[in-house]
Amino acid sequence: MDRDSVLIIGSGIAALTAASRLIADKNVIIFTKGSVRSSNSYLAQGGVAVAITEEDHWENHSDDTLAAGCFHNHAGNVRELVRKGPLYIKNLIGRGMEFDRNAQGEFDLGKEGAHLVRRILHAEGDSTGRVLVDFMLEQIKGKVKIVENEMAMELLLKDGRCVGVLTKKENGKTVRHFANATIIATGGCGGIYSLTSNDPTITGDGLAMAYRAGAELTDMEFIQFHPTMLHKNGRVLGLVSEAVRGEGAVLVDNHRERIMKNVHPLEDLAPRDIVTRKVYQVMKQGRQVYLDISSVENFEKRFPAVYNSCLVNDIDLKTKLIPVVPGSHFSMGGIKASLEGETTVPGLFAVGEASCTGVHGANRIASNSLLEGIVCGNAVADKIISMPSIPCQYGYKDEERVLGDSMMPEKQQIKDYMMEYVGVIRQEDSLVEMKEWLEGYDFFHIDPEKQSLGQVETANMLLVSWLITTSALKRKESRGSHFRADYPAVTVDWNQKRVARHIAERKVTV
Ligand code: SIN
Repeated sequence: MDRDSVLIIGSGIAALTAASRLIADKNVIIFTKGSVRSSNSYLAQGGVAVAITEEDHWENHSDDTLAAGCFHNHAGNVRELVRKGPLYIKNLIGRGMEFDRNAQGEFDLGKEGAHLVRRILHAEGDSTGRVLVDFMLEQIKGKVKIVENEMAMELLLKDGRCVGVLTKKENGKTVRHFANATIIATGGCGGIYSLTSNDPTITGDGLAMAYRAGAELTDMEFIQFHPTMLHKNGRVLGLVSEAVRGEGAVLVDNHRERIMKNVHPLEDLAPRDIVTRKVYQVMKQGRQVYLDISSVENFEKRFPAVYNSCLVNDIDLKTKLIPVVPGSHFSMGGIKASLEGETTVPGLFAVGEASCTGVHGANRIASNSLLEGIVCGNAVADKIISMPSIPCQYGYKDEERVLGDSMMPEKQQIKDYMMEYVGVIRQEDSLVEMKEWLEGYDFFHIDPEKQSLGQVETANMLLVSWLITTSALKRKESRGSHFRADYPAVTVDWNQKRVARHIAERKVTV
């Protein structure tokens, strides 16, 4: 009997993890619109947050995740994520994945924003994503068909069930692929903003495709801006990991004054949204912001990727100052899904950043995204393997297409407007203005036969921008990464006993 087929759209850590678990039972095909390494996972510098030592406990990891997420998280899913994390990580290590260790052979755990203890595993310093992706690719080598440079354009639906996906090749040819299960693992949508840490291919395609197919999306207003992107001549040249601050770097202005002093008890390691807003405000006042790395030991060895980015971009590290700017980094919202990846459309699964399981709340804590990819990648595979087989629906007929006015703006214009109107700080009038501008275009309907890859990508960017903008208008409060100048902020008490104890132990001045 033929084995069932599973299509995976995307090639980041969630996709590769799911594939590696599915291959024993299923025929797996991975589609990616770029190359197999064009993903945010590949670029991830931080690491994997996991309570793996005797001194730590997954309940502490859960507490920190909830506090950073401003308690908007799905608490049950957070517990599951951080409780199962150590098991899956130990399994990966057992299969040969190597995380960095100290001279005593213990894990060399890193520290990042809002984590009250050191719990970040990393590999080759700040190259964790690359090492992990390469490790997973080696695991599935020769066992999975990987189709590169073919863009998934539209989910195929039959009687309300997802039965596969329509893709388009670079030469313009469209192909219909049928499967028993389809997994969206396309990442988020950082590329719809002009300043971003994301791989350029990350333009929200999976989110747009799911929305057009009738899947429920949620929490789209929560876009995380990372405070420290390497910056020169108005351009972002990559990320400067939060782990650099974990090793002692501090944010300063052009007078070398520390900017996070007295802003938050955790100072430079405050939750990411808080640091981002401070950097943004200082820049709005006309001052440049830098990461002062004077007190980071062995910078070149611990952060080789950041070091090299500085080198190739002529940033003089003798000054010990790295120019930084905030940029879009992660989408907490996405396709509403269970931890096992089930969406509101039968046959359709979502995993990783494309999904929203509620684990990240209003602001993802550092290094929980690779963890999510690993835990949920395994969980979605287990779910699909456990489900009764449903025959493939080859007798599919296309719906009649209704394509409105196909005039589209330039992609750069969308990115610039999103940065300006739906960026770090938002307010009613600019959100309304953006919504009206977006609604001047027809981005709901696409025709993959008639439209080019670029046109569909633009329509996807517009649709996802519209989802973020309208969600941001609806949320009339400031919470985590969604900050509205016209509504007060929900505050998290970082001086509570638990936090105060950790601060005292680490001798941080409050
Ligand atoms: C970073 O290295 O600062 C980013 C890590 C993350 O987004 O989890």
